[in-house]
Amino acid sequence: MDLVLVGLSGSGKSAVGRRLAQREGAILVDLDDLIESRVGRPVTAIFADEGEAAFRRYEREAILSLGQADLDPGIRRVIATGGGAVIDPRNRWQLYRGRFAVWLRAAPEVLAGRVSRSANVRPVISGRDPTAALRELAVARDRFYAPAMEINAGAPSATIVRALMGRGAERPTDSVTLLRADTALGRVEIGQGIAAAAISGALRRQHARRVILIAEPKTWAVAGAGIADALAADGWPVERVMLPRGEAAKRLRVVEQACRELARLRVDRRETLVAVGGGALTDAAGFVAATYLRGVPIVQVPTTLVGQIDAALGGKTAVDLPEGKNLVGAFHQPVAFVADVSLLETLPPRQLRAALGEAVKMGILGDERLLELIEEDGEAIARGDRRPFESGSLAELVERCAWAKVEVVSADERESGLRMTLNLGHTIGHGIEAAAGYSKILHGEAVAYGLRGAFAVARSLDIVPAERARRINGLLDRLGLALTPPTVSLDSVRDHMATDKKHALGRLSWVLPTATGVIVRSDVPAEAVAAGVAAALRLSPIATTAEVSVRP
Ligand SMILES: NC(=O)c1ccc[n+]([C@@H]2O[C@H](COP(=O)([O-])OP(=O)(O)OC[C@H]3O[C@@H](n4cnc5c(N)ncnc54)[C@H](O)[C@@H]3O)[C@@H](O)[C@H]2O)c1
Repeated sequence: MDLVLVGLSGSGKSAVGRRLAQREGAILVDLDDLIESRVGRPVTAIFADEGEAAFRRYEREAILSLGQADLDPGIRRVIATGGGAVIDPRNRWQLYRGRFAVWLRAAPEVLAGRVSRSANVRPVISGRDPTAALRELAVARDRFYAPAMEINAGAPSATIVRALMGRGAERPTDSVTLLRADTALGRVEIGQGIAAAAISGALRRQHARRVILIAEPKTWAVAGAGIADALAADGWPVERVMLPRGEAAKRLRVVEQACRELARLRVDRRETLVAVGGGALTDAAGFVAATYLRGVPIVQVPTTLVGQIDAALGGKTAVDLPEGKNLVGAFHQPVAFVADVSLLETLPPRQLRAALGEAVKMGILGDERLLELIEEDGEAIARGDRRPFESGSLAELVERCAWAKVEVVSADERESGLRMTLNLGHTIGHGIEAAAGYSKILHGEAVAYGLRGAFAVARSLDIVPAERARRINGLLDRLGLALTPPTVSLDSVRDHMATDKKHALGRLSWVLPTATGVIVRSDVPAEAVAAGVAAALRLSPIATTAEVSVRP
């Protein structure tokens, strides 16, 4: 088996790696040495001549060259990585899957002392105050190291080596955690095949005595039952509360029934609920958790792509009224959010494709790599192909979208500023979704129409270059999103937009794309809005401006 050492500069990865390999009779692969021999130049020269981006490219290639994990028992290879090797989600996919990863962790002050005494030049630190630089790096990277087994790197390397010897007998599993972080939105864990273990960990942290799973018939069949079996095998008593499938879960009557079921089970306020399902289920179960006994903790385990990249994150919970969607709700952050991409394997392609509407939106907000990923693999993801599951590209997409949402919502939980940018494409999108009665068009599909509209508005105000608009419209074309006019009436879209809840002080706030991100504008003239709605509804350009008039 391969043992992988990760951690910040100065944590002793090379020294521990050398000793451990010697003691175990294993091969040592020092990733920086491997890069130097492949490129034919020292790492410092690569940084100086070509910059960090080029170094990361060489690093990625070197990691790929490690090939498949060695699954034979015993430590066969010790792989000592550079401190930044784990930044790239695909590197973690490669390094952590089937390999035994160890995080050599020490306080930045301890590491800074070592780095200052060492003759090695560390390009990402040199020229800076090492303690401050290492503190910053720890904040930016700890979530990537955290899935690995933690070892105190402050200890002498002989002690660490002794602790790691013989660990090769443990067979690595198929599951892989790619990211783990304690955030203002609860513990966030992302990976593949991790659901049961992550739920179990969350419940142990909550000192739970049983598992109370909330699911619906479909998500119970495809995910919940398996998770319940794994948790029961782990010794947990499991209770189950079933809600109706899909949007039918988001009703006050259903909330009442679920709360009565919890009362019959004598669930008290220290107990933790676990929701397993799509965005509708996590919205409804989240609302149950927010209100039962004035609030009980919940673990959100989304089983749809929409749930993993958006709905189950951020603490917004709600149910619908006959008068409108999400009209009754509460903010209630989960204690843990678990995105296990293997739960998406049974998801119908239409659900995957629609969710890409939201993912494209997250890319437009400022993640160029995410846009490239969707350009490369979006069509395969939308078809439900196996390849994006196996290559780690779906996991990377979930991580990029989910983490971006964590950052935005942590900065602005109640949507007073930054969180509003997540509404890109939603102004017209919501209008279309509502006009279609929330049944014929899925949310992500509506967002895709809305994105086309937002680009048309931004083009008519000249705030986004034509090239950017062409790129995004072309991407939506290839994904098969918002291709044909939706079967909604123009008047109905217009009316729903006029009553949009973002209608502040009588003016609609628009989140509009720029060359590299978005801006919020509340001064969009009627003609620009008309052009946007026409583009979203895919009306012919000539028929539009006169026909479409939406009050700004
Ligand atoms: N709270 C938020 O911030 C937020 C954000 C976005 C959307 N939402 C809400 O999310 C809901 C939409 O969520 P959704 O798109 O996940 O739809 P959904 O929850 O309605 O699920 C769609 C369908 O997929 C099925 N399903 C779920 N997981 C499956 C799996 N793994 N395999 C096979 N089938 C599966 C469900 O049974 C359902 O029939 C809406 O109610 C929307 O308002 C909330």
